[in-house]
Amino acid sequence: MIDVHTHILPAIDDGAKTREDAIKILQAEVAQGVKEIVFTPHYYGKKRSLDAFLALRNDAWQKIQADIPDGLQTRLGAEVHFTGVNDPSHDALCTLAMEGTSCVLIELPFTRKWNKSVFTHLREFILDTGYTPIIAHVERYMETQKNPEIVAKFVEMGCLIQVNTGSFLNKMTRRFAYALLKHGLVHCLATDTHNSDLRAPDYENVREAVYSAGYEKEWKQAQACMRAILDKKPIRQEYSPVRRFLRFYY
Ligand SMILES: [Fe+2]
Repeated sequence: MIDVHTHILPAIDDGAKTREDAIKILQAEVAQGVKEIVFTPHYYGKKRSLDAFLALRNDAWQKIQADIPDGLQTRLGAEVHFTGVNDPSHDALCTLAMEGTSCVLIELPFTRKWNKSVFTHLREFILDTGYTPIIAHVERYMETQKNPEIVAKFVEMGCLIQVNTGSFLNKMTRRFAYALLKHGLVHCLATDTHNSDLRAPDYENVREAVYSAGYEKEWKQAQACMRAILDKKPIRQEYSPVRRFLRFYY
């Protein structure tokens, strides 16, 4: 399995605080069958310059480099906060793409209503650079929960979609996560792990739950899609929009 969204690098964001905790998370990932990980610390353009972030990310990476378990592949990346207003430049976004790919993980605002400029800026970024935004944990935003049709619109625009493994077990997000999987709208699965305690990797438990629910094929499709992203191969996945009626997604 591949984990493309993690906060394992120590002392750079609200993820692992120490080198020891980072190592514990890495060991848990390997025990659960994860073979490749992308390190995606939060990047908030307002908080830190790009250069300062890259230097800090490099330091954090150096701290754990010698402790990466044998056989585990790792890459650097970032989870870039994007609001539609005063966002990082297109060049900065490209620099923050997952190492060796032209895909950048984008976190959108958790506010009730998104500014239209979120869509405009994403579209401009795609047209200008040819890079692909991956929308982080699309099932967690109030805006997408209320208007799930937005997810297919992102894909039409040229984005890919990431869903958190934990969302398949969470009562609040479970229905939406499964509907996205069923509709071909999950290109990436990731733990979004932050520590070895309350937000520890849960990949294997979730895989079992999803297989038991009858979605083994869709789970494997998402794994193949992540492989293609990391190998810079084209992604072709049929999809259809998810809709909502009351508390149900269909
Ligand atoms: Fe995250």
